[in-house]
Amino acid sequence: MQRYEEWEHFRTKKKADKLSFFKRNGRLFDILYTQQFDKEFLAHLFRISDRIRTIAKTQKGLNFLRTTLSDKRAMLFFVQPSTRTFMSFLNACHILGIQTSEIRDTSTSSEIKGESPEDSIRVFSSYVDMIITRHHNEGFAEKSAWVLNTCADRSVPVINGGSGKDQHPTQALLDIYTISRAFADMGGIENKTFTMIGDLKRGRTVRSLCYLLALYRDVKFYFVSPPEFAMQQDVLDFLDSKKIPYVVTDDFTTSITQADGIYATRLQDEYDSPNESKYIDFDRFNLTAEHLPLLKKHCIIMHPLPRRNEISVEIDRDPRALYWKQVRNGMWVRAALMLYLFERDTLIDDYVA
Ligand code: NCD
Repeated sequence: MQRYEEWEHFRTKKKADKLSFFKRNGRLFDILYTQQFDKEFLAHLFRISDRIRTIAKTQKGLNFLRTTLSDKRAMLFFVQPSTRTFMSFLNACHILGIQTSEIRDTSTSSEIKGESPEDSIRVFSSYVDMIITRHHNEGFAEKSAWVLNTCADRSVPVINGGSGKDQHPTQALLDIYTISRAFADMGGIENKTFTMIGDLKRGRTVRSLCYLLALYRDVKFYFVSPPEFAMQQDVLDFLDSKKIPYVVTDDFTTSITQADGIYATRLQDEYDSPNESKYIDFDRFNLTAEHLPLLKKHCIIMHPLPRRNEISVEIDRDPRALYWKQVRNGMWVRAALMLYLFERDTLIDDYVA
């Protein structure tokens, strides 16, 4: 088979049939989509993240953390706009002593000379021990991992830092970590209702998070959006297959009243076809201070950021608003993930303060 046909053959397989390809010796090797994770893996990652955040409180701890991956180098190939995810990975790398290099603009790289992005990835893999990518093409991270696993002399882990409208697995990890901490004294994530609001059709963060929440018993969903930007059928089919109840609606008030957790997202208009979102009223889904009395007392309020008007700034002071915590949690979870990928997570358990 020609390479192109081989890739097409692989690409069109069901997700479930692809998962083992991105594993080595029973451990995840590439991090591409949230269907790769199970509850045990998440529990392990939460524990390592908790340990890292505690160890990082002292100078001695930070000095120790900096030795854990100081023999490694990472490449951040972020050719789609990013502030948080880029900074979060960069700082997680620095906490662990990983040296980093970056490309954020293809106009300064060899793609301008006609090099394919896949060739660029092979080149990067010759220099570094891990590649973290953000790309507007949905299959880019997966294809990069496939190229390295099938034809490169040097296969290094690929982490998806956002793949077009499809997935954002490390955002989902920090989101589920934040949710798990918030509900630690309330019976955990089980038996909770989550109201996902906004551009659910193209919001990769919500899509990724749904696969993770679905791992927990008795969760329920409200998907609140204008009908034009409703949650896509692939996620709904997945929830159906797990017998997880959900309501697809544009009834904002009922959905927020029922929620244990609200997850708001912005309109992803960078993906618009001409005028696709121009005449749609998104403002009727904005959460404002007037809505707060309607919410359950413990209802957590989340947003992957950046926000526009989805959550008004007066809500920032409410103890239920967790979006700033999400940002910091991202750094600990990504550090934990990288330690796991290099099989150094046991060092964290062995550390004595
Ligand atoms: C999100 C993304 O890039 O998908 N941002 C992030 O990584 N925290 C959400 C968004 O851009 O709306």
